[in-house]
Amino acid sequence: LLTLGVFAMRALANLLGQLMPLEDVKVSALDRGFLFGDAVYEVVRVFQGKPWLEEEHFQRLARSLEAIRIGGVDLVRLRRRVHETIEAGQFREATLYLQITRGTSMPRRHAFPMQATPLELIWVEDYDDTATAAARRSGVGVITHPDLRWHRCGIKSTNLLANVLANQAAHEADCSEALLYLPDGTLTEASHSSFFWVQDDAVWTTPSRDNILPGITRALILNLAKRANVTIRGGHLRRDDLSKIAELFLTGTTSEVLPVVRIDGKPGGRGDPGPVTRKLQEVYSQAVREFLAG
Ligand code: PDD
Repeated sequence: LLTLGVFAMRALANLLGQLMPLEDVKVSALDRGFLFGDAVYEVVRVFQGKPWLEEEHFQRLARSLEAIRIGGVDLVRLRRRVHETIEAGQFREATLYLQITRGTSMPRRHAFPMQATPLELIWVEDYDDTATAAARRSGVGVITHPDLRWHRCGIKSTNLLANVLANQAAHEADCSEALLYLPDGTLTEASHSSFFWVQDDAVWTTPSRDNILPGITRALILNLAKRANVTIRGGHLRRDDLSKIAELFLTGTTSEVLPVVRIDGKPGGRGDPGPVTRKLQEVYSQAVREFLAG
């Protein structure tokens, strides 16, 4: 139990089918996730005990596993374990973390081992949305940072060092996110979020064929856009053009739709959450309400 203020935050893990407190999970030093970052993961939001966009997250997990050629993972069983873990801990507002590594083998060698059993780890932890909810109302600051990642960012791998360094730079600048840019100045996505911007009365986002993670929240926003009377186009925003945009917002599993009001210390867009961002926040909340009612 991790006590944060008045909240007792609980985290229950499921390691290869066995339930245990998260702090009791022990993984071998020979695990390839630990040694090489040879692993993929998902983060899912749980609302009122129900995993949100579960199917979409499992589809992306399947694509990530296939992309790095980890075979033999029974996703139906994994999904059942997810539900068992949520139920065992009677979680309501929570996040779910899922990680599959290629498993352990001796000796340490880069090439895939002849035989290894993938490690399947799930944990569910209580989630307190208070601070993020406030940020959704006020908006957040971001920095721009070089995109130092590899060329397969569509795979949700645990190789996150470039993301970690960019996000740390953001925090050291009192910002919540880092917008990543390529050497030619094109912005790709953020360290752990997708982004959209409003310019010339249209909403834009980086095309998913580019080297970005196809965000589940991003895809939902693309689907919900019509409800908000908004057309979303694929396009590229350059760092030099950030001063020309009307609005910018981030999307992600726990961020949901998060307005950006400061970029590199200067007001971003209008300097407060804009009307298109607000509208998309509304349709997002409506979709969650419908999911919970259904
Ligand atoms: N991050 N882009 C990157 C690089 C991400 O790591 C994430 C998610 C997103 C948003 O994707 P989604 O809408 O599916 O959450 C975009 C997760 C939450 C994380 O690493 O904690």
